[in-house]
Amino acid sequence: MCGIVGYIGNRQAYPILIKGLRRLEYRGYDSAGVALLNGALNVYKKKGKVNDLVNFIGDKNIKGNLGIGHTRWATHGAPDDINAHPHFSGSERLVIIHNGIIENYATIKSWLETKGHTFTSETDTEVLICLIEQIQKEGDLPIEDAVRIALTKVVGAYAIVVIDRLDPNKMVAARKSSPLVVGIGEEEFFVASDATPIVEYTNQVVYLDDNEIAIVSRENGLKVVNIQNEEVKIPIVHEIDMKIEAIEKGGYEYFMHKEIYEQPKTIDDCMRGRLSVQEGWARLGGLAQYKNKICNADRIIIVACGTSWHAGLIAEYLIEDLARIPVEVEYASEFRYRNPIISERDVVLAISQSGETADTLAALELAKKMGALTYGICNVVGSSIARATDAGSYIHAGPEIGVASTKAFTGQVTLLSLMALVLANERGTISSTQYQEYITELGQIPEKVNKALTSSDDEIRIISEKMKNADNALYLGRGYNFPVALEGALKLKEISYIHAEGYPAAEMKHGPIALIDENMPVVVIATNPSAHEKIMSNVQEVKARKGVVIAVVNEGDSEMKKIADYIIEIPSTLEPFTPLISVIPMQLLSYHIAVMRGCNVDQPRNLAKSVTVE
Ligand code: G6P
Repeated sequence: MCGIVGYIGNRQAYPILIKGLRRLEYRGYDSAGVALLNGALNVYKKKGKVNDLVNFIGDKNIKGNLGIGHTRWATHGAPDDINAHPHFSGSERLVIIHNGIIENYATIKSWLETKGHTFTSETDTEVLICLIEQIQKEGDLPIEDAVRIALTKVVGAYAIVVIDRLDPNKMVAARKSSPLVVGIGEEEFFVASDATPIVEYTNQVVYLDDNEIAIVSRENGLKVVNIQNEEVKIPIVHEIDMKIEAIEKGGYEYFMHKEIYEQPKTIDDCMRGRLSVQEGWARLGGLAQYKNKICNADRIIIVACGTSWHAGLIAEYLIEDLARIPVEVEYASEFRYRNPIISERDVVLAISQSGETADTLAALELAKKMGALTYGICNVVGSSIARATDAGSYIHAGPEIGVASTKAFTGQVTLLSLMALVLANERGTISSTQYQEYITELGQIPEKVNKALTSSDDEIRIISEKMKNADNALYLGRGYNFPVALEGALKLKEISYIHAEGYPAAEMKHGPIALIDENMPVVVIATNPSAHEKIMSNVQEVKARKGVVIAVVNEGDSEMKKIADYIIEIPSTLEPFTPLISVIPMQLLSYHIAVMRGCNVDQPRNLAKSVTVE
C-alpha cells in the first residue's frame, strides 16, 4: 500500500511524478503529494486522489528536475493534508516518502523529543525523517550515510526515498519488505513501487533487495550498498517487457471492465507454451525441477489472502480431486501466527497477484524456515514473493490495475488447473483418456469465457438494475462453485458496498436461511453437474421463503428456468474447470451494480490493491 515515485535527470520531474502517481493509485488513494527541488524544496500535498492534488497545485511553482511523489493508504494517522506525504524533517532540509510501517516509531519519537524535535503529523514517517536528520546533524554526514544508520535503528517495513536540499544532485532510496524498483535511463533515474511509472522512459530496471540502499546521483550514477555499507558490486539490470497499452484503459471507462474483458486473452497467455491440445500435453516449467518432491509431498499447504485465497480453495478441489495429494488452504495472516506444523515433506504454495502481500510473504518465510519447499504463483514479475520462493510460475495476466481482482483470479485458477493436471498425470491418478479430455477442454476455455462474457452481459445488466438497491445478498454454490460463491460475494462487497455473504449451498439452512425474505437476492451458482440436483433443492428452500433467486446455469438448463426468478446462461465445461467460467457473471454483476450505484469501481473506498502492511 502507498505508491512512491522519484525522478532525477534533465527533464522536469513534476509531469513524470504525476503520471507515475496516477499509475500507482491502485496502491492507495487517501492523499497524494510531491516534493520538488529547484534551489528551494517545495512540498505540495492534499487529502484525496491525485486529481485533487493537481487541482490544489494549480499554477504554483512546479519547477525542478529532482522530485518525489507519494499516494497514500493511511496506516498511522487520519487521511488528511497534514499526514499526507512527503514529510519534511524539522529543519525542512530533508524530505521523505515512505511505503510501509515503522513499528518502533513511538520509542524513537520519545527519544527525538528529548533532543528537542517536535512533530506536526501523526505519522511514523515523520519520525523516521527526523531521526535521519538527527543522525546527519550529529555526525555531519552525507545523506546516504544518515539514511543507512537510521535504518539500522528501525524495526518494520519500508520503501523510502529521501532528498536533501543541500545535496541537490542525489536521491537516496531504500527497501525492506516493501517493493522498490530503480529505472535506469540516459542520464536519468527513476525509483518507484513498481515499474508502471517507469516503463515509458526506460525498460532497464534494478529490483532492490531487502536491506539495500540505492544512491542515485547525477555525477556517479547508481550505487547500491547494504545496510552494513558494503557495496553490492554489480546490481543486476533486468529488461522489463511491459506495454504501455497494458497499463492504460484503452477506451473502457474503468480498468476493471477492461480487465474482465481481457480474460479470454489472459487465460490463453497463461497456457501458452504450457498446454498443447494438438500434441496432447500439459507442462509447467517451474514445476520440472521439483516434480518428484511435489508428487510425493505429505501435504500441499496453500497460503494467500483475499481473492488469491479463493483461487487457493479452488486448487484444493482440483489437486485433491485430480492428483489425490492432500491440500490445506490457509489465510496467510492466520497461518503465520498460529504456530503451524510444517515439515520438510510439505510443499507450501504462495498465491499472490502482486507478489507483495505482507502476510503472504511472511507466511512463506516461516514455511521456508521450517524446511518446506516453497512455490510461488504470482502475476507481477520480479515481485518479492516470486523472488523469495524456491520455484514458481507466473500467471502472465499483465498489469492488473482495478483494485478488485478479476483477470488475475482466472489466471491463478488456470495455472492451478494446469498444475493439478500435470501432477495427476505424473502420479497416474487419472487415466490417459481423462488426461487428454482435460487437455482438450482446457484449450477451449478462452473461447468459452469469451462466450460467457458476450452472451450474459445484457441479462446481467437487467439483473443489476433489480439488485442495485439491495442491502444484503447471499451467494450460494457447492463443490467447485463454493469458492466462486465466496468470490462473487467478495466482489460485490468490495466495489458496491452491498453486504454479501458466500456460503456452501447446503450450509444455508444452518444460519443464513433466517435472513431470507422477499428483499434478499440469492445468487445461486449451479453449473457443476455433480451438485445439480442438490442445489435445485436448495433453490426450492430459498423460493419457499420468498427469496429472489438469480441462477447461473449451463446453457439449456430448463429445470432451473422453471423455479428461478432470473437465469444467467453460460457455456458448460468439465466439472474441474467450471470456476473459470462461472466466475465471469460474478465479476460482471458486481461491476454493473457498482457502476449503477455511482461507485468508483477501480478505487473502492478503504481498499488498496497491494497490501504491504500486516
Ligand atoms: C487486497 C486486494 C485483493 C487481493 C488481496 C491479495 O485485499 O484488494 O484484490 O485479492 O489483496 O492480494 P495479492 O496481491 O496477494 O493477490
